[in-house]
Amino acid sequence: MSRVVVTGRIPDAAIEKLRAEHDVDAWSESDSISRSELLSRVAGADAIVTLLTEQVDAELLDAAGPQLKVVANVAVGYDNVDVAACTARGVIATNTPGVLTEATADIAFSLILMATRRLGEGERLVRSGEAWKWGMFFLLGSGLQGKTLGVVGMGGIGQATARRARAFGMEIVYQSRSEIDPAIADELEARRVDLDELLAVSDVVSVHCPFTPDTHHLFGAAEFAAMKDSATLVNTARGPIVDEAALAVALRDGTIAGAGLDVYEREPRVEPDLLELDNVVLIPHLGSATVETRTAMAVLAAENALAVLSGETPPTPIRA
Ligand code: GLV
Ligand code: GLV
Repeated sequence: MSRVVVTGRIPDAAIEKLRAEHDVDAWSESDSISRSELLSRVAGADAIVTLLTEQVDAELLDAAGPQLKVVANVAVGYDNVDVAACTARGVIATNTPGVLTEATADIAFSLILMATRRLGEGERLVRSGEAWKWGMFFLLGSGLQGKTLGVVGMGGIGQATARRARAFGMEIVYQSRSEIDPAIADELEARRVDLDELLAVSDVVSVHCPFTPDTHHLFGAAEFAAMKDSATLVNTARGPIVDEAALAVALRDGTIAGAGLDVYEREPRVEPDLLELDNVVLIPHLGSATVETRTAMAVLAAENALAVLSGETPPTPIRA
């Protein structure tokens, strides 16, 4: 029996899988675990199952001790995990790609629809109790048919978002570090372009790249200026990819028309200037938040931890 520490509440299906084979110490409060509590709990752990709210760094790994074999992050993004520090200690780090692709693409597309059709504004108006009535020019948004979606980061989630956009009659351009499967590019009739061209031609720009030092503030004042003034920016990836203060200025000045955000630079804080604006839709990091997806993510993380503990190759190691 190995000692497995789970740093936050995860679905029972995953806990049961772990408990069937190991001694599991799972944080069960709804508030996230404090750093000091976390550092003391991980002592002696052979495996740690982490949520994206926990920073996995040298300090945490050292607090666990040299017997630690695996850190299984319950997220596809792993900017909270210092993979180099794991590797240096012989600890395998894993994430949960694939299982949250469709749920996250659904949220990206929801934000695209909400922002372009002004649904947040409309919903707030109805709830406010203020008078409203149908009118020829009342709350007009813009349609998606025939428009261009620019996908920044054409991994699984970017592709799934592009597939939805095709069903809505959109054309696809994308920017990506690597070429995608030609069969998928063909199916989506997607054209690979550089970021400058993507910004110039897209009516909607949807961000799906990982957050790394290279993508920090990939979107700032210059990028907004390079976009159409009728364009909408959607971010379901990681907050720090977008300079939130610059976004607020661009939305206020009409440099771009609208935005939809699921993630923020300093979660759960939101740039106060954004809260004042009607042309941005703000939702609280819900990309993978379905019962099915969260269960699949936690079970995959448990399978990763179990595989490493029994000396096997985990299903989804992080390849850094
Ligand atoms: C969620 O944000 C994830 O990276 O899984
Ligand atoms: C998510 O599953 C991705 O690989 O983009």
